[in-house]
Amino acid sequence: MIGDKKALFSGMQATGNLTLGNYLGALKNWVNLCDEYECFYSVVDMHSITVRQDPAELRKRARALLTLYIAAGLDPEKNCIYYQSHVTGHAELAWILNCYTYMGELNRMTQFKDKSAKHADNINAGLFDYPVLMAADILLYQADVVPVGIDQMQHLELTRDIAQRFNSIYGDVFTVPEAYIGKQGAKIMSLQDPSKKMSKSDENPNASIYLMDDPDTIMRKCKRAVTDSEACVAYRDEQPGVKNLIDIYSACLNKTPAEVEKEFEGKGYGDFKMAVGEAVISVLKPLQDRVAELEKDKAYIDTVIKNNAEKAQYVSNKTLRKAQKKVGFPERPR
Ligand code: TRP
Repeated sequence: MIGDKKALFSGMQATGNLTLGNYLGALKNWVNLCDEYECFYSVVDMHSITVRQDPAELRKRARALLTLYIAAGLDPEKNCIYYQSHVTGHAELAWILNCYTYMGELNRMTQFKDKSAKHADNINAGLFDYPVLMAADILLYQADVVPVGIDQMQHLELTRDIAQRFNSIYGDVFTVPEAYIGKQGAKIMSLQDPSKKMSKSDENPNASIYLMDDPDTIMRKCKRAVTDSEACVAYRDEQPGVKNLIDIYSACLNKTPAEVEKEFEGKGYGDFKMAVGEAVISVLKPLQDRVAELEKDKAYIDTVIKNNAEKAQYVSNKTLRKAQKKVGFPERPR
């Protein structure tokens, strides 16, 4: 809780290009959450360096992501959008929490296993400790809810375990967070293999529409999307490719699948795919224009970055000081 509102925390990595799936499935639905929750969205650049990054590229992408969030409609006066590395408490609380987390717990994390297999030449301590830094992110802001995908559930569970363990020793220090189950966004699948989620790390560039794709590229990818031989725009599990395109079209234009089926009754896949392409363009083009507009206003973005980092620092310090006191660190002379 922060004041009389529940707190919501989400972190996002600035690696890889965000996709239409990230937008329709998450970002777009977060815009109104600030009415109900005190929202914190952190660009988690400290997590990013657990795998090797090009420094200039990381800086550029981090800023692009932050700008995109604002362009997508997250008002930076009402949502705290900031860089993790600008707020000192993340590393400080992570250190404390490290001493309340077992090796065995971290060893079980499937993301650690996957990433160590993928980066066998750089299995560093930070990669192992990644979930503890994530726990610190969440607990610092006393987050009640965390919108996470299924791939981050194990980390959220661990966060809860750490919080409960700490609380059981020292009393109520941390809010034990829950997964945010609100209005769910559309789950968008790969355009080339509708059994897989659309992913920013897909090797096949035709599988995903990126938020910064130009209209021609978007149209081409839609036209190439995998369908089937039923030749019927129907929303059924037996036609996963078509179903996915209906989901995309519905989410872009705020229609129901039934309305879409009706609209394309008797029409072929060619027409339908064109319409999907146009619907996607009608959503992404304005978003891209807003990004371009914001990028021109360097001073504004810089102010947002500064003010929000200060706010995050202020809020997180309260929790940090509490935790430091509990574990026995001496009080700071004022
Ligand atoms: N690990 C998350 C991911 O890769 C990003 C993240 C970092 C996060 N800290 C967080 C997500 C805190 C939710 C809450 O997607």
